[in-house]
Amino acid sequence: MEWHGWAKGVALICLLGSVCQGRELTIKNDDDSQIYNHTIAMILVEYSSAVTETDLTALFTWTCSRCNDLTKGFEVIELIVDVQHCLQAVVGVDHNLDAIIVAFRGTQENSIQNWVEDLLWKQLDLNYPGMPDAMVHRGFYSAYHNTTIRPAVISAVEKIRRSYGHIKIMVTGHSMGGALASFCALDLIVNEGIRNVELMTFGQPRVGNAAFASFFSKNVKHAIRVTHEQDIVPHLPPYYSYFPKKTYHHFPREVWLHNIGVGTLVYMTEKICDGSGEDPSCSRSVKGNSIADHLEYFGIDMQADNWGSCRIIMDYSVLQYEMDLSGNIILSKDPLAPSIVQPTRQQDLFLAN
Ligand SMILES: *[C@@H]1O[C@H](CO)[C@@H](O)[C@H](O)[C@H]1NC(C)=O
Ligand SMILES: *[C@@H]1O[C@H](CO)[C@@H](O)[C@H](O)[C@H]1NC(C)=O
Repeated sequence: MEWHGWAKGVALICLLGSVCQGRELTIKNDDDSQIYNHTIAMILVEYSSAVTETDLTALFTWTCSRCNDLTKGFEVIELIVDVQHCLQAVVGVDHNLDAIIVAFRGTQENSIQNWVEDLLWKQLDLNYPGMPDAMVHRGFYSAYHNTTIRPAVISAVEKIRRSYGHIKIMVTGHSMGGALASFCALDLIVNEGIRNVELMTFGQPRVGNAAFASFFSKNVKHAIRVTHEQDIVPHLPPYYSYFPKKTYHHFPREVWLHNIGVGTLVYMTEKICDGSGEDPSCSRSVKGNSIADHLEYFGIDMQADNWGSCRIIMDYSVLQYEMDLSGNIILSKDPLAPSIVQPTRQQDLFLAN
């Protein structure tokens, strides 16, 4: 893995030269500023956008309008729809990246404005299990850990690893989907013992306090939080610098997308922020009050077409699916199996609201 290369390099210099003599050998293995890859970001943002689609048949067969471009050829293995909590996740294999992709969509049951306003009041109300002092927001934690999402994601990942071996896992999501993705990446590493897990989220809110952020970054070494201009969501729930122990605190590493104007030229830059998680020269240097900037990343439309309704569309006659007593749906197929789905008759389902 690339990010171990640095540590080895430093150790090697010490062996060859005398630079380390008489000094404590400090191996710098926490430099994660090298891990941001623009090409990967362009691909993962498309997955994060596509997973918001409501037509489950088109999503499962990867023929939806957003299931295109850089994600073409994605082999969907499992599509999980937690109807009860209005959450969605897709797990499959990107053969170009030789990686398992796990992409999340957060709840859509309120309007985006209401959802953003609610973020102001989210409490740090749950001790992260097994980590004294680490506090998180129960709602975000539970959305991943206490719904149909977690068991279905873990079983899909295991199924793929049995067929394709231990290829790397890239976990992604936008907005609340990014919060779910964060808990998932940590879970895969800490509870499932999987090592090659990479996380990249777009416009995610804060999910825990400083103790949690520190625990998180010790475990999820390969984590990038992309933020965009004045996107309001990464500013929420609020960070209070004068309350360091009691406040929400982002984990590193932020990459802030923003425009720089030079004369009449304006171009987008990607600023790799510091390792604190709360770099004051990145998105925190601006007021951050835009919903429009939240809904577009790298020019990709992140807005779900069903905000406020939790609507899904599915052809029940051709898809094999499992449904539990609460109406939650899991569509799955075996890795390597040819696709047998031919969309015909569609049915609309209106859930909640
Ligand atoms: C970024 O990722 C792409 C796709 O995996 C890879 O081809 C490229 O070499 C990577 N770039 C860097 C600088 O690591
Ligand atoms: C998980 O859900 C159950 C049932 O809704 C609830 O009683 C429990 O408190 C939840 N756990 C967490 C950690 O939120």
